[in-house]
Amino acid sequence: MFNIAVFVSGRGSNFLALYESLKKRQSEAQIAAVVADRNCQAVEKAKELGISTYFVSSKSREDFFTYEELKQILLEGETNLIVLAGFLKKIPDTFVDSFKSRIINIHPALLPSYSGKGMYGINVHKAVFNSRERYSGATVHIVDKIYDHGKILAQQKVDISTAKSPEEIAERVLEIEHRILPEVVRKIIEGKINLDT
Ligand code: GAR
Repeated sequence: MFNIAVFVSGRGSNFLALYESLKKRQSEAQIAAVVADRNCQAVEKAKELGISTYFVSSKSREDFFTYEELKQILLEGETNLIVLAGFLKKIPDTFVDSFKSRIINIHPALLPSYSGKGMYGINVHKAVFNSRERYSGATVHIVDKIYDHGKILAQQKVDISTAKSPEEIAERVLEIEHRILPEVVRKIIEGKINLDT
């Protein structure tokens, strides 16, 4: 079994898109764990689906695991891949080292544009809107120690020239996210994307 841990902070629509795609393909892969940095809709959904959930924090907090503890849990669970699906905290360097080239992230813009600290969720779409871009899109990339920086695995753009608000851009980009994230994960499972190169 190919075990995936999905990290979330919010609504969890990307987590669900991935869950549905794995289910539909009756793949030899499963979302074995959902990890969050806060209580959020995605955690509720994961619980409903019977998926193990964990909270993680880089500070010491009651009921939260440290990244070191989480690392042990995920290693014991034979985790093959970690997917950041709207996870809004920076992953500590030591954790990135422990899962080198085994962590991927979905970003709601055409990287390397609109990246870095503070560039997440609606902030990204506001910046894109204010710059009057004709296109935006989504990018899936390997996570390294620099924000939104690792090797790009997939990217797709969408025409946003008629979008009247950042929210409208978010909607169009989200549609793409729900397509390219499951696609990349499928290719990784099938060995069609080699994360080590
Ligand atoms: C998604 O748009 C994702 O790309 C973004 O947060 C949203 C989460 O939505 N992630 C980032 O901005 C990370 N830099 P979801 O919880 O419905 O999947």
